[in-house]
Amino acid sequence: MTNALRKILIQHLRTEELFGIRDVPMTVTQALTLGRQFAGIGATAANTSPQGNVGSRVERGAVSHPTLPRGAEGDRGGSPKAGFAPRPSNASAEANLARLKILDDSKVKGCTHCELHSGRTQTVFGQGSPTARIIFVGEGPGYEEDKQGLAFVGPAGQLLTKMIIAMGLTRDEVYICNVVKCRPPGNRTPSAEEILACSPYLHEQIAIIQPEMIIALGAPAAKTLLNTAESIGKLRGRFHQYHPPISEPRAQATGSGRVPQPLGRGTDELSASAAYSTVNATPLMPTYHPAYLLRNPDDKRKVWDDLQLVMARMGLGVKTAG
Ligand code: URA
Repeated sequence: MTNALRKILIQHLRTEELFGIRDVPMTVTQALTLGRQFAGIGATAANTSPQGNVGSRVERGAVSHPTLPRGAEGDRGGSPKAGFAPRPSNASAEANLARLKILDDSKVKGCTHCELHSGRTQTVFGQGSPTARIIFVGEGPGYEEDKQGLAFVGPAGQLLTKMIIAMGLTRDEVYICNVVKCRPPGNRTPSAEEILACSPYLHEQIAIIQPEMIIALGAPAAKTLLNTAESIGKLRGRFHQYHPPISEPRAQATGSGRVPQPLGRGTDELSASAAYSTVNATPLMPTYHPAYLLRNPDDKRKVWDDLQLVMARMGLGVKTAG
C-alpha cells in the first residue's frame, strides 16, 4: 500500500470515528492526485466510481497529529502555500494575547452597544491560539457558552471539537469565536443591528491574530464576513475572500430588516473599495454550522468536504506514526 493511500485510509478512519461520517465515497485517482484533498472513502460496491474506490479497511494504527506551524507571511488569497514557514516567536504570541486581552477587558466585557447585553450572564470573547492559522467563527453564544464564558462548549461545540480533531488539529491550535459576544435570547439568530454593533470586535480579533484561513460556521458568520446575502448553501464548498474594514462603517442600521454588513467585504475576486482593504484579504471557507449538523447529520459529509479543501490548501494532513 502506498503511503498516500495509507494516509487516506487512516484519515478516513479517524474521520469516521471522530466526525461520525459513514459510507463516504471516494475515488482513488482523485485522492492520489490531490494528495490530502480526497473526497472520502469507505464506499461500497454499489457506489464504486469509474476510477475505482477504496472500500477496504486498514488496522487502526497510531496517528500523530500534525503540528500547525504558522507562516510568517500568510496566504492572503493567492495560491496554495508551498510549505510551512517557521512558527511565530513566543514574543508575537504574547503580544497578540495581550492585545486580545485589552480588547476583551476594555471594550467587550463592558459593552452595552446593543440590547443583547441586558440578557447576558457574561460576554463570550473567544479562545484559542493567539497566533492561530485558522479562525472558526460561529454565530453567538448559547446557553452553555453564556454560563461558562467560553465559545463553543455546548453540544454544537462538542461537534466542532470533533471537526477540528478530524482535521488533525486541536482546539488549542486554532481560534474559536463568534459574530456576537452576548447570547441572543432563546438562542435566536442575532439581528442586523446586533451584528452591526458587535462585528467590529470580530474584525479586530481577526486583525490581531491575522489567520491564514477563516472558517465561517453558518449563515450569520459567512454573511457578516463576506458582506453578502447569499445563502450558506450557495456559499459553502468554495473559497471566498475576507477583506478587513479599513474605516468605520459607512452604512448604519436602517431598521429595514436587511442585515447591514458594512464591516467586512468578501468576494471571489479582489475589488476596489474605499471602506475595505483590497490587499489584506484572507481566504474564507463558509460551511454549515455544527448546530445545523446536529439537526441534519446527513450534511456532515458536505462539511467534511469543505474542511478537506481547507486542509489541502493549507498543507494540513495526517502524519502517520513512525
Ligand atoms: N453556537 C455558536 O454559534 N457559537 C457558540 O459559541 C455556541 C453555539
